[in-house]
Amino acid sequence: MRMFIKTTGAVLGLLLLAACGGGEEQVPPPANPGPSPITPVAATMEELGRDLFFDQNLSEPAGQACATCHDPAAGFADPDNASPTSEGVLGGRFGGRNAPTAAYASFSPPFGIATDPMDPLVTFYVGGQFLDGRAATLEEQAKGPFVNPIEMANPDKATVVAKVRAAPYAGKFVYLFGPDAFDDVEAAYDNIAAAIAAFERSPEMNPFTSKFDYWQRGQATLTAQELLGLQVFTNKGKCSTCHTLVENPTDPDVERSLFTNFRYFNIGVPKNPNNPFYNQPPQFNPDGAAFIDYGLGAAIGVTTENGKFKVPTLRNVELTAPYMHNGVFATLEEVVDFYNADDNNPPPPPEVDNDISADVGFLGLTPEEKAALVAFMKTLTDGYVP
Ligand code: HEC
Ligand code: HEC
Repeated sequence: MRMFIKTTGAVLGLLLLAACGGGEEQVPPPANPGPSPITPVAATMEELGRDLFFDQNLSEPAGQACATCHDPAAGFADPDNASPTSEGVLGGRFGGRNAPTAAYASFSPPFGIATDPMDPLVTFYVGGQFLDGRAATLEEQAKGPFVNPIEMANPDKATVVAKVRAAPYAGKFVYLFGPDAFDDVEAAYDNIAAAIAAFERSPEMNPFTSKFDYWQRGQATLTAQELLGLQVFTNKGKCSTCHTLVENPTDPDVERSLFTNFRYFNIGVPKNPNNPFYNQPPQFNPDGAAFIDYGLGAAIGVTTENGKFKVPTLRNVELTAPYMHNGVFATLEEVVDFYNADDNNPPPPPEVDNDISADVGFLGLTPEEKAALVAFMKTLTDGYVP
């Protein structure tokens, strides 16, 4: 039997050689055949970005996706309301900041310096991603978490690209970026970020479907308490000076209020003694419990900006507790009490005592007005059915 097979093999080989135009030099098969080609699967950038955003396999070890800390059920913020800041995929590793919503982040302009339209001598920082603006765009931002040791903890970009190549949606990647899409790690990594950014710009992450939106469209009614809250928000509470909204019905953006002007302010938020970042090993936090988050000032190396953070959107704020960059406040009621502080009810000492906004504190809100303010903020939750 053995002999027979061998012979057959040899004969077959000869036949094949002949078929290929025998006589030419025989090319040995490559010692390491490259990875098998990936069949393209038609998809949009948003669809690929969505797959990437929800893929828990893109951390090291597997188990953490972008959506783990930016969960749609929690307004695209961290669903873990008990912890002030988010835990990385490697248990026990915590970053210093509370995960903000990634929804509506696409409306932040690229980080830069703007001039006050009322006074050309006044300039200010605006836009960018992260609470300190250190990523200029969504694309830049999306490159960070995969290789951040206290987040998704991949050792390098090549590891992330290899995981995407092996993912069930790799065909979409090849469809969008070509058969060589995975050959160049840098280019592939940039395309991963571009697809995620496309998803972050999609209606799914920017739905404008809150009760407030329907009310502005004349399709829902706000209660008397919610209307009082809106009034306090735009007048006595001064909230809308930073958390801006569009009220003029003829403004083309009237149904697209973002509740942020994307500027940077120090509102005097206190330290959060329960921030788990204080207990991180020195390679992540050399300052221990003495750590101070200087926000924008540290990001751009300008001390006059110390303590300033980007004004967050208040859309879905009902779902995104705890609040502020370090998660120091557990409820919206605590936030409102903080803004309403005065001499009888003094605020806790600020984390950074620099250029604290004069629009914060001494609002003189009554208990009824404070409750109304909270009720109004709860009209900003997406998914309202009119
Ligand atoms: C371990 C939790 C965690 C994971 C995983 C994570 N993020 Fe974040 N995200 C955060 C935190 C914390 C911040 C704020 C950090 C800061 O300001 O320094 C943030 C900030 C952001 C912002 C900026 C929002 C704004 O208003 O400035 C975006 C957008 C974002 N993340 C998207 C993503 C994407 C895309 C991924 C996956 C590639 C991801 N995140 C993975 C915790 C996480
Ligand atoms: C001077 C600008 C300014 C004003 C006025 C202002 N805010 Fe803010 N607000 C901010 C900034 C900046 C932050 C983020 C601060 C931080 O993280 O340290 C913030 C954070 C918040 C948060 C937490 C959001 C989150 O996701 O953690 C809530 C809620 C909030 N503001 C509600 C209000 C209300 C209600 C008012 C009016 C009573 C108000 N703000 C007035 C600038 C302002």
